[in-house]
Amino acid sequence: MSLAICPGSFDPLTLGHLDIISRAANMFDHVVVVVMANSGKNPAFTVQERYAFIQRSVCDLPGVEVDTYDGLLADYCALRDATAVVRGLRVMSDFEYEFQMALTNNSLHAKTETIFLPANREYMFLSSSVVREIARYGRDISTFVPRAIAADIQAKLCGKEIKHECG
Ligand code: PNS
Repeated sequence: MSLAICPGSFDPLTLGHLDIISRAANMFDHVVVVVMANSGKNPAFTVQERYAFIQRSVCDLPGVEVDTYDGLLADYCALRDATAVVRGLRVMSDFEYEFQMALTNNSLHAKTETIFLPANREYMFLSSSVVREIARYGRDISTFVPRAIAADIQAKLCGKEIKHECG
């Protein structure tokens, strides 16, 4: 059975992430989306909140599981005997960091291979930080994140429950 790991901080999950996850699900028997810590980021949402956002967004995708892991990605790959790590690439500036991460993970656990999927053109500009910024100013984010979670993200970041319009 082929198993792919889609790791990330997912703070919060965006439609760009969901696109990569669903494309990985078409390529592998099983996909594990794992919420991890990025030491360079101070998350706005707790691990439990981020996990729940993903759970609610992937429930229709067969073969996709959600998990959390407080440790190194290479160790998680070894634990799950993963076939590959799948990461999305939006622009060339993503590449340097992603390449370093792929080589580091491979040197920590030689079986860890990383596959890069180019971002869908529609989501090339999209990131969790863009979503947080828009939400904090009270603008509608329902075209950037799965509809099921948009109101809860908005409620936490701008203190208002907004269904699809904000302002
Ligand atoms: O969504 P992000 O923030 O780009 O995801 C980065 C993440 C969480 C995958 C990365 O920081 C990570 O793998 N963290 C776990 C700790 C680890 O293995 N660090 C070494 C990677 S070089």
